Amino acid sequence: MSAVRTVGIVGTGVIGAGWAARFLVRGIDVIAFDPADGAEEALRKKVATAWPSMLRLLGEDHVEAGKLSFTSDVRELAQASDWIQEAAPEREDLKIRLFKELDEVARPDVIIASSSSGYLPSRLQMECRHPGRVIIGHPFNPVYLLPLVEIVPGDKTTDETMERATRFYESAGMHVLRLKKEIDGYICDRLQEALWREALHLIKKDVATTGEIDDSIAYSAGLRWAFMGPFLTFHLAGGEGGMRHFLDQFDPEMDLPWTDLPFPEWSDEMSSRLIEGCEKQAAGRSVSEWEAKRNEVLVDIMHVLEKHGIGAGTVLSRGTAVTGR
Ligand SMILES: NC(=O)c1ccc[n+]([C@@H]2O[C@H](COP(=O)([O-])OP(=O)(O)OC[C@H]3O[C@@H](n4cnc5c(N)ncnc54)[C@H](O)[C@@H]3O)[C@@H](O)[C@H]2O)c1
Repeated sequence: MSAVRTVGIVGTGVIGAGWAARFLVRGIDVIAFDPADGAEEALRKKVATAWPSMLRLLGEDHVEAGKLSFTSDVRELAQASDWIQEAAPEREDLKIRLFKELDEVARPDVIIASSSSGYLPSRLQMECRHPGRVIIGHPFNPVYLLPLVEIVPGDKTTDETMERATRFYESAGMHVLRLKKEIDGYICDRLQEALWREALHLIKKDVATTGEIDDSIAYSAGLRWAFMGPFLTFHLAGGEGGMRHFLDQFDPEMDLPWTDLPFPEWSDEMSSRLIEGCEKQAAGRSVSEWEAKRNEVLVDIMHVLEKHGIGAGTVLSRGTAVTGR
């Protein structure tokens, strides 16, 4: 495979624009496609918003950015790209159709990755002539700051594609989590979905407000989750005996009534509690103001993690990987 000099981004909403920013700051050219009116201007605006946080994260004053171009023809994008990152709306029929079209035009060595939050790659590749190059490359918002990407193979994805994808995403400053096999929702979204459902049950039972439920995470488990997942956390919760003692203490076969995991029955009242609750939490600040605050805090947290050589900070100590041109 030739080096990736140009990435094609299909769909430039929240995620596509985040990918564009991540690649551009590393000197990689981006060609983008999105059928929405005003999409190019909106993309350039989102990239400009991302820029100062990325520079602060990478500790750079200035970088030789890649070139950003926009096309109204997805086939032109497929022809021009060395890597294609699809970030269109989460609709399986649309993605299957897009993958078929991209696969018809792109060079056979070009990897086509979907940002899908949960679809099976075997289904996205099923109408492709070169299905071996199709994978899921699932990022997290904001893509230009958060380093995780889950890569997931479909039935027909080759090992070589997985290897190349690992190398490419690492060169873009990411931590690559390679799933052994496909599963709906992959790993992190399954965990987030479990927490989301439990939170909805608490709302439905009127145990607490959206703000109070958020606080239960932000003031406790969330602080640990910045660098430890549920397993290492509970290993420490077992004291000197670690997970062994933890399992003795909290017998895993003891079926505690601590979860209501099936999705709760929906109602307008549930919608209102969520919407009103979140608007109250936002305390008059717009989503963009919250995004700016989130970015500032995320960059600071990652610098602290880098100092301690732990978790997401380790991608920074690996080097900034800003390539320049
Ligand atoms: N938002 C998140 O937190 C998040 C996180 C990880 C992955 N994802 C996934 O990323 C993908 C994009 O999500 P998003 O949040 O950026 O959505 P979004 O609605 O912000 O953006 C989707 C973009 O796709 C464009 N689009 C519509 N039809 C298209 C077509 N035929 N071809 C190309 N583009 C088209 C829209 O105009 C829009 O700009 C989805 O698959 C989603 O599941 C989202």
